[in-house]
Amino acid sequence: MREIRCAVVGCGAVGPVHAEALSKSTRARLIAAVDVVAERARDVAQKYGAECWYEDYQKVLERDDIDAVFICTPHYLHVPMVIDAARHGKHVLVEKPLAIDSDSAAMAIEACRRAGVRFAVCLQNRMNPVTVALKDAIHRGLLGKIVCVTGAVSWYRSDEYYADSPWRGRWETEGGGVLINQAIHTLDLMLHLAGDVESVSATLATVGHRAIEVEDVASVSMRFADGAVGNLFATTCSYPGTDVRIEIVGTKGSALIEADALARFSSINGEALVVEDDRYESLVAKPYYGASHRKLIEDFIEAIIENRPPFVTGEEGKRSIDVLNTIYREFRRQKASA
Ligand SMILES: NC(=O)c1ccc[n+]([C@@H]2O[C@H](COP(=O)([O-])OP(=O)(O)OC[C@H]3O[C@@H](n4cnc5c(N)ncnc54)[C@H](O)[C@@H]3O)[C@@H](O)[C@H]2O)c1
Repeated sequence: MREIRCAVVGCGAVGPVHAEALSKSTRARLIAAVDVVAERARDVAQKYGAECWYEDYQKVLERDDIDAVFICTPHYLHVPMVIDAARHGKHVLVEKPLAIDSDSAAMAIEACRRAGVRFAVCLQNRMNPVTVALKDAIHRGLLGKIVCVTGAVSWYRSDEYYADSPWRGRWETEGGGVLINQAIHTLDLMLHLAGDVESVSATLATVGHRAIEVEDVASVSMRFADGAVGNLFATTCSYPGTDVRIEIVGTKGSALIEADALARFSSINGEALVVEDDRYESLVAKPYYGASHRKLIEDFIEAIIENRPPFVTGEEGKRSIDVLNTIYREFRRQKASA
């Protein structure tokens, strides 16, 4: 069977998770690790058995024997790197967020479409067994019509977290704060489960971290196209942090997800929700990454081999960016007129 030859670009916190998943795949091979910090690239290459490592990702793009590139760099580099990789004929998996605004997200999608390459966005929590089971239950009408969805991301990030990777905490390089970085997974799941958002308003503030520009607390109100009301609360100021919660209330039942487990499911018709066991163990990831990176990466490799769209396409990855784009645009407008 054909083997997909891969390179991981960006070997900071999350790059090694991609490298480990590729090292364990039977259908992919990790060929190269890339980071502008040479020792990070070398360490990942050595630890996960890559043939070589580079400081400049162009070296990967120039090689005809590399099929796919995994972009694990700071947010502002995602779109330029996706477009560059697509133009060189590489299939691309990009870490979340796809982009820091809607227009550039659309450009990345278009570049991949034109190049005829597969494009996936790493919103791995869509593949959590609980998400898959709940999505199916909603589709089968077990909760009735969705009335409201609430999400809560009450986490803690220290000042060192922002200082250690200085691209974080700045509009230009992170594109926003807790919403685009930490809460994007929860927002994405709310959209995935409850459908598109018709209107949105938000209150953002920077309260607990003096050295950053972007928001560290946010409260978002949403109206979904099907009529449901949504609310997302997110902060990186909540020491020591607690599990992410998503609650869905429908006319015939309700469900609560805590972290990546089903905490409660009740349907008026009495049907229980069966959540499959995970196929894969967690990788080197921090627990809050969840266990589905490997699943999403395997799906992307299969999508290339089978010539089909991946589970989370560019278009799907753009949905949360569109909501965030509206929130941040309005926030900037209010700041400018204050
Ligand atoms: N899906 C998830 O659950 C999850 C979890 C963590 C991080 N992420 C995302 O992964 C991305 C990376 O986050 P991180 O926490 O690993 O950040 P990080 O700062 O720890 O790592 C980023 C790495 O990219 C490298 N880099 C910067 N410019 C580069 C360039 N031009 N070429 C090659 N390498 C370059 C840096 O040196 C650094 O090692 C972000 O988009 C983040 O939001 C996703």
